Amino acid sequence: MSISAAPTASTTGPGGPAPLGTPWTPRATRVALLGSGELGKEVAIALTRLGVEVIAIDRYDGAPAQQVAHSALTIDMSDAHELAAAIRSCGARVVVPEIEALATDALEALESEGIRVVPSARAARLTMDREAIRRLAAEELGLPTSPYVFASSAAELRAGAEEVGLPCVVKPVMSSSGHGQSVVGSADELDAAWRRAAEEGRVDRGRVIVEGLVRFDTEITLLTVRSRDAATGGTVTSFCEPIGHRQAGGDYVESWQPQALPARALTRAREMAERITAALGGWGVFGVELFISGEEVLFSEVSPRPHDTGMVTMASQRLSEFELHARALLGLPVDTALRSPGASAVIKSPGASAPGEGARFDGVAEALAVPGADLRIFGKPEAHEGRRLAVAVAEGVTVEEARDRATRAAGSIRVLLQPPLPSRPVENSIETGPPSAGRAGEVPPTG
Ligand SMILES: Nc1ncnc2c1ncn2[C@@H]1O[C@H](COP(=O)(O)OP(=O)(O)O)[C@@H](O)[C@H]1O
Ligand SMILES: [Mg+2]
Repeated sequence: MSISAAPTASTTGPGGPAPLGTPWTPRATRVALLGSGELGKEVAIALTRLGVEVIAIDRYDGAPAQQVAHSALTIDMSDAHELAAAIRSCGARVVVPEIEALATDALEALESEGIRVVPSARAARLTMDREAIRRLAAEELGLPTSPYVFASSAAELRAGAEEVGLPCVVKPVMSSSGHGQSVVGSADELDAAWRRAAEEGRVDRGRVIVEGLVRFDTEITLLTVRSRDAATGGTVTSFCEPIGHRQAGGDYVESWQPQALPARALTRAREMAERITAALGGWGVFGVELFISGEEVLFSEVSPRPHDTGMVTMASQRLSEFELHARALLGLPVDTALRSPGASAVIKSPGASAPGEGARFDGVAEALAVPGADLRIFGKPEAHEGRRLAVAVAEGVTVEEARDRATRAAGSIRVLLQPPLPSRPVENSIETGPPSAGRAGEVPPTG
């Protein structure tokens, strides 16, 4: 073990987790967050509540987590040299990837130097690549999945589609949130699907997975937590209640918890989640995506980090998935108990914001007047069409009530993209009461 100028917590020692430090002091417990979106913002908040110093890294300035962290760095996270140099220089001893698109070879190098990657550099490398994670799940572990073939040309895609059967789903091997993904119903759509995957994939690797379209009853995210077992110092695996969700165009629009499952399906889902997360290793939250048809369960994919559909846990669990991740990665005990049925509904941008102007959110009062509802506005500095800008979460006595509340709250929000007209009330002022006479005509201050 090397001695560092800024020693931080080692949570793997035999005596249990190391004491937590104080931010901005030499013995701070310092964590570098790689990717500073809405999920990273909540992880940063959860860590800072435990006194952890958070360095939020992203490829653009003013990313959501950068707004709440102790310090921020803007770098090209797909450049291995730049990424490794930034992490070495910031003094973090723990690295928490929040996104897939990272130079994972840099993470493996850092890990070999004793910097801990959550949950592991290998998990980050395998899960960013649909081919690697599918081969691990289906071919090494024998987990049931949709039929699949990989293809490196339009001709291979046509042969692959014939093998898995139509309709099928075509996805770039490197992509997320539905980018570059097509559902193909007839063979004459395959060339367009190939082109779309090449254009919209994260890196044009010229490789796709073609999967048979699964007719599932429900799809779930099973949040699975690997954390330190206080009794043995080993690892214990815990499960949150299943989260049901609805996707449109490969991107999530609504989620709820708990999603009821037949007892056999739940047992199978947990067994599969336990096996895939154990194969990836490390401590933290994993989002295991599964398709459920009756008692049958198919593995789809897994995120080695909190999952977007898991934002519902901010309303439904005693500890959100972000708090669970913070605790698990620090070697602390977790509690996956459900507090109440809950739901989430996303708020996307209807278009692009004007240059230098972020979106504004009207209808917040109506949204927050919905009983049991709450709102997370991410603070993304720029809006573009379809970009997720906020989420409404709600609790309810039943899942149906929670879904209705979250959907109503989200539906109350109007995303404004144009700068206000000069005659509008003063921007940036917080208006808490009805506009008083004369106010509407006031000239806003400049600057
Ligand atoms: N083989 C499939 N059969 C049916 N639906 C699928 C299939 N693959 C993906 N989908 C749908 O598309 C969504 C996004 O696909 P996924 O593989 O999870 O990609 P991403 O990494 O972009 O989340 C899934 O949540 C599911 O709704
Ligand atoms: Mg997915």
